[in-house]
Amino acid sequence: MQISQELSLPTMGCGTWAWGNRLLWGYDESMDDQLQAVFNLCVNNSVTLFDTGDSYGTGRLNGQSERLLGRFAKEYLGPGKEDICIATKLAAYPWRLTRQSMVSACKSSANRLGRNVDLVQMHWSTANYAPWQEGRLLDGLADLYEQGLVRGVGLSNYGPKRLKRVHQKFVERGVPIATLQVQYSLLSTYPVTQLELKGVCDELGIKLIAYSPLALGLLTGKYSDKGPFPKGIRGLLFRQLLPGIRPLLASLREIAQLRNKTMSQIALNWCICKGTIPIPGAKSVEQARDNIGALGWQLDSGEMAQLDQAAASVDKVMVQNIFQTK
Ligand SMILES: NC(=O)c1ccc[n+]([C@@H]2O[C@H](COP(=O)([O-])OP(=O)(O)OC[C@H]3O[C@@H](n4cnc5c(N)ncnc54)[C@H](OP(=O)(O)O)[C@@H]3O)[C@@H](O)[C@H]2O)c1
Repeated sequence: MQISQELSLPTMGCGTWAWGNRLLWGYDESMDDQLQAVFNLCVNNSVTLFDTGDSYGTGRLNGQSERLLGRFAKEYLGPGKEDICIATKLAAYPWRLTRQSMVSACKSSANRLGRNVDLVQMHWSTANYAPWQEGRLLDGLADLYEQGLVRGVGLSNYGPKRLKRVHQKFVERGVPIATLQVQYSLLSTYPVTQLELKGVCDELGIKLIAYSPLALGLLTGKYSDKGPFPKGIRGLLFRQLLPGIRPLLASLREIAQLRNKTMSQIALNWCICKGTIPIPGAKSVEQARDNIGALGWQLDSGEMAQLDQAAASVDKVMVQNIFQTK
C-alpha cells in the first residue's frame, strides 16, 4: 500500500516529511500555544503527518500528546485540514496481553484524539524479552485494520527478520503493513547500513520512517562539546558524543554554508534523499520553519557521499533503542 495515497501523506520534494510530537525534553503546559502554532505552520506548509504515542506524557500528563494533537487538528482552520494524518504508537505494556487489549488501547487513543487514529503502529516488539506476548498484540493490530478502526498499520523498532515474519503473518490476513519506524540519522545509520532495512522495506512495499532524525538536536549544530548541555540524560549523552562527532558536524556545516541552508536542513534532507520519511520533533515555530526548509530540494551525490563518509568515520554513535530487534 502506498501510504502517501491511502493515508494522504504529503509527498514533497524528494520525500515525505512529518512532525514528531513526543512531549519530552522539557515540555510543560505553558508550551501548548507554541506547539499549536507549530502544528498550524506545518499543516499550512503541507506537512500533515503527525506522529505520537499512547505512552507520550506520563503521570499527570498521561495521554497529553494525543490529546493536544487531537485538539490542534480539530481547531485548525486553514488549507490542508483534510490531509491531516495522525499516527499513534501503541505501547507493548506488560499488562497488554490479549488482542482485545490492543483494540481497546486504540479506542482510548481515538477518544483522546477526538477522531479515529489514521495510522496505528506497534511501538516496539517484545521479542527481546517476552516473545510469547507479541503474537496476540499483533493479532489485535491487524484486527484494528480489519474492523475499519484505522486506515493503516505500521511497526516500530523492528529489524528485518521480525519484520518479514510479521509481514507474512499479516499477508495471510490480507492486512498490509504501511510503515516501519526506526531511529535513523547521520548518527544512527545502523538500521540501514547494518540491518539493511531500507532494501527489505522496499521489497515489501513498506515506507521507512526515520525517528530522531536530528539525533535529539545534536545534528542541528547548536550544541558544542564545551557546553552548555541540555538537562538530564540528554545532556549526559551529548557530553559523551560531541567530542567524537566534530568531523561530522564540520561536514554538515561546510555543506550548509555552501548551500545557504542550515545544518538541520542538511541532516533532514540527507534522510529524505535516503528514501525515508524523517519526523523531527520541533518545539518552536522557528525550529519548525527551519525544518520545513529541508523540503523541495535535494543534496547531490557528491554531498551525500561526503556525509556518508563523515557518518561512517565517527567513533561513537547514538545508542540504539533497547527494543530494536534484528
Ligand atoms: N518509535 C520510537 O520508539 C520513537 C523514539 C523516539 C522518537 N520517536 C518519534 O520521533 C520524533 C522526533 O524524535 P526526537 O524528538 O526524539 O528527536 P529529533 O527530532 O532528532 O530532535 C528533536 C529535538 O531537536 C531540537 N530541534 C529540532 N529542530 C530543531 C531546529 N531546527 N533547530 C534547533 N534545534 C532543533 C529540539 O530540542 P532542543 O530545542 O531542546 O534542542 C527538539 O526537541 C518524536 O517526536 C517521536 O514522534 C519515536
